Amino acid sequence: MPAFENTGATEDAASRRRGRPGGTRPHSERSSKLGPMPATVIVGAQWGDEGKGKIVDLLAQDSDVVCRYQGGPNAGHTIVRDGETFKLHHVPSGILSGKLCVVGAGCVVDPGLLVAELDGLEERGVSTAGVRVSGNAHLIMPWHVAIDSASERRLGKLQIGTTRRGIGPAYADKAARIGIRVQDILDPKILRQKFETALAEKNVLLERMHSVEPLEVEELAERMEECAVRLRPSVADTSLLVDRALREGQRVLLEGAQGTLLDLDHGTYPFVTSSNPLAGAAATGVGIGPTRIDRVLGVAKAYVTRVGEGPFPTEIQGPEEERVRDLGAEYGTTTGRERRCGWLDLVALRFAVRLNGMTSLVLTKLDVLSAFAEIPVCTRYRLPDGTETAEFPAHQSDFHHAEPVYESLPGWRTTLDGAESLADLPAAARGYVSFVEKWLGVEVSLISVGAERERVVAPHGLASVAE
Ligand code: IMP
Repeated sequence: MPAFENTGATEDAASRRRGRPGGTRPHSERSSKLGPMPATVIVGAQWGDEGKGKIVDLLAQDSDVVCRYQGGPNAGHTIVRDGETFKLHHVPSGILSGKLCVVGAGCVVDPGLLVAELDGLEERGVSTAGVRVSGNAHLIMPWHVAIDSASERRLGKLQIGTTRRGIGPAYADKAARIGIRVQDILDPKILRQKFETALAEKNVLLERMHSVEPLEVEELAERMEECAVRLRPSVADTSLLVDRALREGQRVLLEGAQGTLLDLDHGTYPFVTSSNPLAGAAATGVGIGPTRIDRVLGVAKAYVTRVGEGPFPTEIQGPEEERVRDLGAEYGTTTGRERRCGWLDLVALRFAVRLNGMTSLVLTKLDVLSAFAEIPVCTRYRLPDGTETAEFPAHQSDFHHAEPVYESLPGWRTTLDGAESLADLPAAARGYVSFVEKWLGVEVSLISVGAERERVVAPHGLASVAE
């Protein structure tokens, strides 16, 4: 097995810091007194699609390393930069700021899609030289994709509504200890052996159970070797890389995919993804200790969306759902599916604050609510036994039958265009934000009021967001 260290962090980060925008004091200076810098986690606080990509893109400007810690190409981050739209699936959003970008061990990687994404970025003039992929991340193979689709078809009405990118089957093989890892692409012989072993079982499953054409070893090995040639230079010991970066006082962002309620252990099972988006998983997903993290930014929309099946208490019934969808352009980045839209659910958001140990909240897409005269906000659930609760139900059946109890907040009915500070926001919009803060007991540190990176309001200053 060829050794790979390939951390490539030190010189790159030092030269990047010299060009740091915004006049903040480099962390390397501060770290000489403070010791290693802690890392910051950016986590989705709802069912994904909260706008994490834009926030990571913004904070990446003042960071050195950006890491994805779980998930795969089921994620889709849309970033609008100088009028150009970028849709990223595997690569952390920091790539647009030229940062060192890590795909951590907790991720699953579709080699064909990753190569296409890297090539697509290069074609648009974005260098991907800073991408490092953990050798311990697992590969999504064509049989995973085929099985994901076939299982959904078989489930029929009971389907989860997955992105059909092979995520569940790839993580299942990882847990069963029969997965193929990124480091296996370093040696064509080993890779071929692993294909042979895997296909002996997977082809039976594909043909007999799912009535899908079997895969051919030769063709697969050839196709994967093409990807391997492209990806080999990026394979790295990313745990070591991130550890070194932190010790040198560099600023590291850990970027989650999907969101809290899609967490395999704590989300709305079985309508969840197969990894752990929660902030606690960032440490294992990247390969650092939990003591290295001290800031957790939760990202939530000012309303809620969900794609795929599963319970959704505040889902809007009626024409206002379509209105929110149109105003918020709520269509999936990965699948193009219409997102289901609902009013802000503070019961679920309080749960997300608790599960993630959130240190502050980023509220996105506040501008989408500008069209509404009254804005319902769910503060409690009414359970089947008639009681009301502000805590997220621990039992699945209670959640499935929970009815939202709303408080109605006044809308502002005016554009938020041009708002640069909290004072620029209409009083009712400020009232909406402070209602959320009070209810959650967490400070809102950033408010996004438009798609572009600049369209944010930082009530306590941008520098304080990841300080
Ligand atoms: P999977 O992750 O493709 O297995 O899909 C499982 C569930 O998670 C489905 O409901 C998907 O719609 C949802 N999901 C997966 N990735 C995302 C995402 O990035 N945003 C929103 N929902 C997602």
